[in-house]
Amino acid sequence: MKKPHTPTKIIYLCVGDKCKQLGNKELAKQLKEKVKEIGLKHSVEIVKTECLGRCKFAPVGSIQPANEWFHQLNPKELKKIFSEAIEEDDA
Ligand code: FES
Repeated sequence: MKKPHTPTKIIYLCVGDKCKQLGNKELAKQLKEKVKEIGLKHSVEIVKTECLGRCKFAPVGSIQPANEWFHQLNPKELKKIFSEAIEEDDA
């Protein structure tokens, strides 16, 4: 029986209506491609979530288990932060 992988880092991106409008859905796609490209599919997972109830802070994302939350950043800033977080696992 195939076992699910257990990532060491999970990046959650809200893709509820407000966050999606502000670029989170496209960002999630780009980050998933990056994870796959650098071969970290089993240690870093990108998870899209429904609305997290923090729309006034959109776009919202977080890195777990570090419990780091990001909001009201533009897609370029978010991409930089999350890309660096992914690359940390590649070191
Ligand atoms: S849509 Fe992202 S917090 Fe509501």
